[in-house]
Amino acid sequence: MADVISKSDRLAGKVAIVTGAGSRSEGVGNGKATAVLFARAGASVLLVDNEITHAEETRSIIESEGGVASSFQADVTSEDECKAMVDTAIERYGHLDILDNNVGISLRETVTEIGMDTWDHIMATNLKSVAMTSRFAIPRMIENGGGSIINISSIAGIVSVADPAYSASKAGVIGLTRAMAADHGRDGVRVNCIAPGLVYTPMVEYRLSDEHRARRKNASALGTEGTAWDVGWAAVFLASDESRWVSGVVLPVDAGLTIAARHSYPEWGV
Ligand SMILES: NC(=O)c1ccc[n+]([C@@H]2O[C@H](COP(=O)([O-])OP(=O)(O)OC[C@H]3O[C@@H](n4cnc5c(N)ncnc54)[C@H](O)[C@@H]3O)[C@@H](O)[C@H]2O)c1
Repeated sequence: MADVISKSDRLAGKVAIVTGAGSRSEGVGNGKATAVLFARAGASVLLVDNEITHAEETRSIIESEGGVASSFQADVTSEDECKAMVDTAIERYGHLDILDNNVGISLRETVTEIGMDTWDHIMATNLKSVAMTSRFAIPRMIENGGGSIINISSIAGIVSVADPAYSASKAGVIGLTRAMAADHGRDGVRVNCIAPGLVYTPMVEYRLSDEHRARRKNASALGTEGTAWDVGWAAVFLASDESRWVSGVVLPVDAGLTIAARHSYPEWGV
């Protein structure tokens, strides 16, 4: 979906944290699109990024559209900084309703290539960070009657499309989502997961040839290319009260890639 500027009150009065709310380079990544869409839906958004200039870029977009947002520099692999992030959201906006755990990295090395320090770094960034931000956010959400946590996994946690460390961490995010949803549902905290497919974002565009880009697009059932806005719109739904009876789900936003093996292997002919 393209970036269609449409404002609403779907998240009016809500306070959201988005981690990795900038983009690693020019263009719009999942975190940036999600933060912009949250603000357009009326939320006040704390834009968390370990590169403050990335968060500031998102803040300037939101403020230019009349939205409410501020930046906060934090590395989500640091427990202290995860706590500071949650405390800052409360200090600046009074309460916390939504946490979008978007930070994720991949290094594309096999198990025979990857160093174990690198393995640990990917696990800390993609998986442990989700537990660390949530452990500080959940009590503050409960104080305010509940909340919504959205964890960004990947279809790499469901089917084999990426490297082992990334795939394992993203499968872990799915398991963590389900366990947290079961643990905290009675306190009014919903926990859901988005599994983006082969979205065209700054995270991948630097390493894609035109041919590779076309193959990614054609592998899905819809045969169209996804953008960060598609991921962001799913996050708006899961953040809003429209999804008040939805918890513990894994929502693939992938144009049907995970059910479309015959598009990847048309010679099967079924
Ligand atoms: N693009 C795809 O095809 C695709 C597919 C599936 C899943 N995903 C997932 O989407 C998410 C990526 O979203 P994006 O497009 O916003 O990514 P991005 O690479 O543009 O990164 C967003 C921001 O995260 C920040 N960041 C990196 N490490 C951080 C850390 N330790 N602490 C705080 N901030 C940090 C970066 O500075 C950057 O500004 C990841 O979880 C990724 O695994 C992407």
